[in-house]
Amino acid sequence: MTIQRVMVIGAGQMGGGIAQVCAQAGYDVLLNDIKEESYEKGLAVISKNLSRNVEKGRMSEDEKTGVLGRITKSLDLQDAKNADIVIEAAVENMEVKRSIFAKLDEIAPDHAILASNTSSLPITEIAAATNRPEKVIGMHFMNPVPVMKLVEIIRGLATDNDVYEAVETMTKKLSKVPVEVNDFPGFVANRILMPMINEAIYTVYEGVATKEAIDEVMKLGMNHPMGPLQLADFIGLDTCLYIMETLHEGFGDSKYRPCPLLRKYVKAGWLGKKTGRGFYQY
Ligand SMILES: NC(=O)c1ccc[n+]([C@@H]2O[C@H](COP(=O)([O-])OP(=O)(O)OC[C@H]3O[C@@H](n4cnc5c(N)ncnc54)[C@H](O)[C@@H]3O)[C@@H](O)[C@H]2O)c1
Repeated sequence: MTIQRVMVIGAGQMGGGIAQVCAQAGYDVLLNDIKEESYEKGLAVISKNLSRNVEKGRMSEDEKTGVLGRITKSLDLQDAKNADIVIEAAVENMEVKRSIFAKLDEIAPDHAILASNTSSLPITEIAAATNRPEKVIGMHFMNPVPVMKLVEIIRGLATDNDVYEAVETMTKKLSKVPVEVNDFPGFVANRILMPMINEAIYTVYEGVATKEAIDEVMKLGMNHPMGPLQLADFIGLDTCLYIMETLHEGFGDSKYRPCPLLRKYVKAGWLGKKTGRGFYQY
């Protein structure tokens, strides 16, 4: 299975990063978003990241031009007709993802792999929206994509071994480290990380300590590079809430109930760094 043409759905913080690393590895990339302004914003971030690489001597100006030249704008899902693999990184919402996958299934060539960068939603359920569940797989990149080495690769119930191997090979070509995971809510990364972040939010909510104090304890005491509340702001509080809801619903265990303060911030539109305000102001 040869992969050369990659389509990325969603030009937000994850989709933009995925498009960047794919173009850097020599793939032709179609970067799709429903909103033209989101595409432009995504491309501007990629361009800024590449300029930083040039300034630091990690890349030449010509290489930067080459990478940007391999990224093509797409505002129409019909462009999937030219893709060998589609990596979906739209919002963390099952209805949205199932609708995108059902459409992609009709448009993409028969050989195309349909991957989701979902943080926590069941790959098997996304795959069931298509007539090719054997070609559907989870490819969970970490944020920020150009920096973080890990990609959790999630097998759905029906995922073919060939598809798994093709995605594993592609992940290595992106200079990332693939780790195989089975399809359970939150996979491994978010099943462990998100309850810790949620607990940190409860700790603010119950007035145990200030947000700065909580982050300081986890940075200095546990050697985490970033405190959990700052990390939540970087991930996006809407994404954190979706993941906690997926864990809560998926396991039916009250230990995963999202903190009311997290819900309140999301309702207020305080989504973290991407909206300029979350636990901190940006
Ligand atoms: N933020 C993280 O740290 C992180 C880490 C790993 C995985 N993820 C997952 O990646 C996905 C994207 O997260 P993000 O943080 O990049 O979100 P984001 O809000 O930054 O970006 C989402 C983008 O998708 C676009 N979009 C929405 N619906 C679309 C559609 N139907 N077709 C095309 N584009 C559409 C939006 O316009 C937006 O530009 C989610 O599933 C999330 O759970 C996020």
